[in-house]
Amino acid sequence: MLSNLKPQAPDKILMLIEEFKADTRQGKIDLGVGVYKDPQGVTPVMRAVKAAEQRIWETQTTKAYTGLAGEADYRNALAGMILGAVPADRLASVASVGGTGAIRQALELARMANPDVHVHVSDPTWPNHLSIMKFMGVPFSEYRYFDAATRGVDFEGMKADLARAARGDIVLLHGCCHNPTGANLTLEQWSEVIAILDRTGAIPLIDLAYQGFGDGLDADAEPTRLVARSLPEVLIAASCSKNFGIYRERTGLLMALAQNTEARDLSQGAMAFLNRQNFSFPPDHGARIVSTILTDDALRADWAAELEDVRNTMLGLRDQLAADLRELSGTDRFDFIAHHRGMFSRLGATSEQVAKLKSDAAIYMVGDSRLNIAGLNRDTVPVLARAIIDAGI
Ligand code: LMR
Repeated sequence: MLSNLKPQAPDKILMLIEEFKADTRQGKIDLGVGVYKDPQGVTPVMRAVKAAEQRIWETQTTKAYTGLAGEADYRNALAGMILGAVPADRLASVASVGGTGAIRQALELARMANPDVHVHVSDPTWPNHLSIMKFMGVPFSEYRYFDAATRGVDFEGMKADLARAARGDIVLLHGCCHNPTGANLTLEQWSEVIAILDRTGAIPLIDLAYQGFGDGLDADAEPTRLVARSLPEVLIAASCSKNFGIYRERTGLLMALAQNTEARDLSQGAMAFLNRQNFSFPPDHGARIVSTILTDDALRADWAAELEDVRNTMLGLRDQLAADLRELSGTDRFDFIAHHRGMFSRLGATSEQVAKLKSDAAIYMVGDSRLNIAGLNRDTVPVLARAIIDAGI
């Protein structure tokens, strides 16, 4: 039986990790996978995370199962961080296996509710969105999003494509810090998208994986809050991997905002059922770290301060890279790097140019020219800027 298996295409992002490791050149630069690195190149355990882990270790008396939905403390605290005011009469939520698990189960939930569900995703989007849907056999189409000329959002194209969504379809939106482009909607544009969703009856699924990495914790959640306030049904898949730096703990949350308490209860039951089918109880350690931090004023303040440092470091690198490229190119055509938000920017280079960066300068980025800003530091920014110009980008 097992010999019947077909080889699977490797994940383009994760493949880069191995390729980079195998490269023996001095001064190689990894701008591939979306992991934050501090100026020393380390992905640190955040101070508040360490403190919370110590507290958990000292006080935890059992490792017995939690509930299928995970701990209520965690779900309430994280829902509060994301939504501000939590609409308890509408909100169903379950802890998930990272943000990826939340996306996967949001799609499963949508298909349980609507077997003919069709999903609309931005062109481009995180490649794993597409991979999961292909694997599940969920039909999808792409809506225009990235304007290759301006490296901003093709908003007219996006609106025209979304207007074709049907009632009961899912529209997958990046809540902030669009991955892979770094180009984001303004709040006014979000309002227009909401009006289209309202008109068509399509349901938003918001992927929120980078809250706190763009314009700040509350500012980054504002579009999600606006959608949640404005539309009767909303799905939200949140990740704590990046903003708490707990990537390997697989800590996420799937939320469904329903029209009434009856639909909320049905959603809660279906989401707990899906947890049971997929893995039974969700991982607890990361969730417990998050709830320990969010429910303790001092830990929360320290965590938020460290997250702000991370965000400001990335903004500083964006400004530095845009300024270096302005000087080297004698034009402002790279200024979009300073305007983009989050970990990533899509440079708009060809795959040949990306390959040249790798072969000539040992600089690794995803083939679509997505670069991870957090993989840079003040010393490597000028090296990248020079290499970008040398590669003819
Ligand atoms: C990324 O886009 O690099 C991250 O979300 C990590 C991943 O799992 O792909």
